[in-house]
Amino acid sequence: MGRAHARMGTRTPNPHRVSRRRVLITGAGGQLGVALSAAFAADDVRALRRDDWDVRFPVPEALARPDLVLHTAAWTDVDGAEDDPQGAAEVNVGGTAHAAELGAPIVAYSSDYVFDGSKGAPYVESDSPRPLSAYGRSKLHGEAAAGARAWVVRSSWLFGPTGHNFLRTMLRLGAERDEVAVVADQRGCPTYVGHLAAATRELVDEVVPFGVWHLAAAGDCTWADFAEAIFEEAGLDCRVRRITTAEFGARAPRPAVSILRSDKAAPELPHWRDGLVECLAVLERHR
Ligand SMILES: NC(=O)c1ccc[n+]([C@@H]2O[C@H](COP(=O)([O-])OP(=O)(O)OC[C@H]3O[C@@H](n4cnc5c(N)ncnc54)[C@H](OP(=O)(O)O)[C@@H]3O)[C@@H](O)[C@H]2O)c1
Repeated sequence: MGRAHARMGTRTPNPHRVSRRRVLITGAGGQLGVALSAAFAADDVRALRRDDWDVRFPVPEALARPDLVLHTAAWTDVDGAEDDPQGAAEVNVGGTAHAAELGAPIVAYSSDYVFDGSKGAPYVESDSPRPLSAYGRSKLHGEAAAGARAWVVRSSWLFGPTGHNFLRTMLRLGAERDEVAVVADQRGCPTYVGHLAAATRELVDEVVPFGVWHLAAAGDCTWADFAEAIFEEAGLDCRVRRITTAEFGARAPRPAVSILRSDKAAPELPHWRDGLVECLAVLERHR
């Protein structure tokens, strides 16, 4: 798939928009939460970590009602959810219902793992989900729990300069080893959290209807391709040994092809490789 040009920030701003919104971010300590806090810095941001509000419990009484909720708090341990599907559902379904109870329009983040990957082509919003894993099921039920005033934003393969993600794991392994074994038969869109945060801002600043929106990086690749690109861009001398999903043997099944595209007028994100370069530059600045 070719390298698309970003057209973020090119459309009409929402004339009804409150100038300085009270924006509440859940899961603010996570990789997307950190990026959203930066992207919405011009607003009045209340960034809540798990210690401030464990979303498995109802909204704390003292919490001021916001104009917008960016709900990123989630159980994101895909393999761990197979062992504790109830625990994953408490956060991803119950927690989303609680966030919706704040009564403000909400952006609820969901995942490419709501699809089974059997389409063999990019998934658009009108495709029927069929999750393969407990995590995917919890995210799909979480979409429904977000309610009628929700933008359900599905994204995929997130990476950023903070937290746990594939990019940071590869940088660590690539510095330690001559070779890493990486899955080469799953294809998706590695999405830089900075680009997803900017696209989220564009989505909520414009007059777009509530509903499901696919926001993922342009282009697509396998995990092995992504690892090779990371080593190349970071100047690490480490080989990628291409293995199959079966050889890797993860606990949770994952879709073979979960490329996300939009059949609506969604903001377009830059190419995943541009996201990689930007993210490495941020890491370099903070070294
Ligand atoms: N990561 C991906 O590849 C990916 C792909 C597609 C969609 N998504 C979705 O995108 C969103 C953001 O993901 P992310 O990658 O930023 O995840 P992340 O880095 O794991 O951050 C999730 C945050 O949620 C917090 N959290 C977990 N349980 C909580 C609870 N019960 N109450 C309050 N906070 C809780 C975590 O806190 P602790 O650190 O204390 O656990 C963490 O700060 C999630 O909805 C995820 O499902 C992620």
